[in-house]
Amino acid sequence: MAESRALRIGIIGCGQVAMQGALPGLSRPGSDIVQDAAPFLSFGGAEDVEIVAVADTDPGRAAAAASRFGIGSIYLDGFELLDQVPMDAVVICTPPRFHLGYACAGLERGLSVLVEKPASTSARELDRLTSTRAAHRPQSCLVNASWAYHPAVAVTAGLITRGEIGIARQAEVVFEHGGPQDWSPNAAWYRDTELGGVVTDLGLHSLVLLENVLGGPTTELRPGAFGPDPLERAQADATIGGTAVRISLGWDAPSPRFIVSIAGDDGEIVLSLIPWTGKPHRPTAQIQRSSSGEPVALELPAESYAGGPYRQFATSVRTGTAGLTDIDAVANALSFMLKWKSAIPAA
Ligand SMILES: NC(=O)c1ccc[n+]([C@@H]2O[C@H](COP(=O)([O-])OP(=O)(O)OC[C@H]3O[C@@H](n4cnc5c(N)ncnc54)[C@H](O)[C@@H]3O)[C@@H](O)[C@H]2O)c1
Repeated sequence: MAESRALRIGIIGCGQVAMQGALPGLSRPGSDIVQDAAPFLSFGGAEDVEIVAVADTDPGRAAAAASRFGIGSIYLDGFELLDQVPMDAVVICTPPRFHLGYACAGLERGLSVLVEKPASTSARELDRLTSTRAAHRPQSCLVNASWAYHPAVAVTAGLITRGEIGIARQAEVVFEHGGPQDWSPNAAWYRDTELGGVVTDLGLHSLVLLENVLGGPTTELRPGAFGPDPLERAQADATIGGTAVRISLGWDAPSPRFIVSIAGDDGEIVLSLIPWTGKPHRPTAQIQRSSSGEPVALELPAESYAGGPYRQFATSVRTGTAGLTDIDAVANALSFMLKWKSAIPAA
């Protein structure tokens, strides 16, 4: 694309993740809109981007997004937006059953695509997305596995690579909150049994984050116990980057937690990332080395989300580079998440 003009991006789906994530995340850094957005999703805005059109099957939501973010062009059908609006890229923020259709349509029309997680709801969909993308290189195709962009991920991965806790032997993730109704006012679709509930919602985030922290792919995943409502609570044991990992997910927790602990031969790192609370928060991270005994707080970058998915997507489209959560980079985690999902017992 031409370097001199702003990147033109369309947004399909104007619900909660668009209003709290994509729209502010692609707005001008420092603007009030960016400051007001959910601090864990907005990632500080992006330079030289113009959001040229939005689409939502609900006219009220499309109009609300266009009015708040000053966008002149509104569609009720995402395919019409893709057919009619000249642009460079599209961000897909709909419920999962529309991800594949819109993502492939975008790629086939020569656009780069940022598609919300999970991006595919079956192995067949995953095959179709990776093959459509392969046929349309060098366009970017990123999946918004947003937690992989958390600054604590790069900080922790660096410590592990440098051997600061010795060899990482075991890791544990606890990712839980009170359920999607605390997040989106339209959350009914999250509980569609075919989607996989908490496994699909928080499982992919956990796997992609751990692959980046531990520096290697998931090679094994054994689904464990499910809760009384299997859509609300799930556990699995996995091997990721050669490290044994236990992952516990919940939509039934009294308070939100996203804790990642990594134990090595020579110490332990504990991250407290804190999922959505609707309030500003600061994540914490600490390291406890066996030699010194006392836990030490780790410095996290002050602009916590500087490398976030929206900014990275804009960079990826401009430069033709793959991006941290390129579909090829997350396809392995996605296939293990789908395997976990297929083990969910009928309620
Ligand atoms: N990356 C993250 O951290 C993160 C966080 C929350 C949600 N998500 C994901 O984002 C996606 C959307 O979640 P949400 O919470 O914003 O949901 P939501 O229900 O709040 O919003 C979805 C919007 O899509 C619209 N829509 C539905 N079908 C459509 C269609 N065919 N064409 C165009 N618009 C359509 C709906 O009217 C609604 O406004 C989901 O895949 C969810 O898993 C990701």
